[in-house]
Amino acid sequence: METYTLITGSSQGIGKGYAMEFAKRGYNVLLVALPDSKLEETATEIKEKYQVKVAILPIDLAEKDAPQNVYNWCKENDYIVDILVNNAGVAGTTIFEESPLDYSDMRIQVNIRALVLLCRLFIPDLKKLPKAYILNTGSLSAYYSIPYKSVYSASKAFVLTFSKAIRDELHGSSVSVSVVNPNGVYTNDGTFGRINAHGAKGRLTATTAEQLAVIAIDEMFKGKGVIIPKFVNKFLLFLQKLIPAKLEQSILRKEFMKEVKVS
Ligand SMILES: NC(=O)c1ccc[n+]([C@@H]2O[C@H](COP(=O)([O-])OP(=O)(O)OC[C@H]3O[C@@H](n4cnc5c(N)ncnc54)[C@H](OP(=O)(O)O)[C@@H]3O)[C@@H](O)[C@H]2O)c1
Repeated sequence: METYTLITGSSQGIGKGYAMEFAKRGYNVLLVALPDSKLEETATEIKEKYQVKVAILPIDLAEKDAPQNVYNWCKENDYIVDILVNNAGVAGTTIFEESPLDYSDMRIQVNIRALVLLCRLFIPDLKKLPKAYILNTGSLSAYYSIPYKSVYSASKAFVLTFSKAIRDELHGSSVSVSVVNPNGVYTNDGTFGRINAHGAKGRLTATTAEQLAVIAIDEMFKGKGVIIPKFVNKFLLFLQKLIPAKLEQSILRKEFMKEVKVS
């Protein structure tokens, strides 16, 4: 049986890192991202480097029917998905009260709604396969209430909680659900600026998209529920348990104001 790994947000950044790494390991890939030239370019790069099947679906996941349309596209083309990677997401740092309504709306639609609906649509089919995986991309920000990243960190807290819950619901089935929570990842220009705004701390805790893909895919195949790349980030989460909540918020406020200044 010919199966596929479906990766959302796979035209660039972390999603492209996943797509390249899965293809390198011999997995056929379905690339889903916004309609622009980068999607075609990534597909061409994969086909030139690896002997796998590649198909693309340009689509805006913020649109109401997009998750259903992604699922229908797979059904119409007989693409049997055995690995679903929900990676598309929109980050950003802003002063909440000054942000346009669209700013929050888009993050909720893409980071939360599309991810939930894609899981809901694909799980019944995944359960019919002998082995299947869901890999959701969260963020280390899921563990913090981050000023100036309020909607983003809350959306990733949702992804973490939701992923853990459906993992348990699927306990004993053939479907393993993982969520990966990276700290900064060098992807687009915005993330370079945001990581560098934190100086040495930012650089120490960050990974490249390629490093992250290797870690996340290895751990996903081992069946790990929550994946935290890099020891230093696990240590940060340990420290969090020792710091009083008020002090933590004050540190976060000062630290993330640095990002507002470079955005
Ligand atoms: N970079 C970091 O520091 C970091 C850290 C922790 C977690 N994450 C998470 O990792 C994931 C990927 O981040 P990234 O830094 O790789 O982002 P990125 O470089 O901006 O890439 C985002 C990808 O998602 C696609 N995308 C964005 N909005 C979409 C929409 N409405 N419909 C369909 N596709 C859409 C983009 O398509 P186009 O190329 O066509 O625009 C692109 O392929 C996100 O969930 C993010 O929250 C990132």
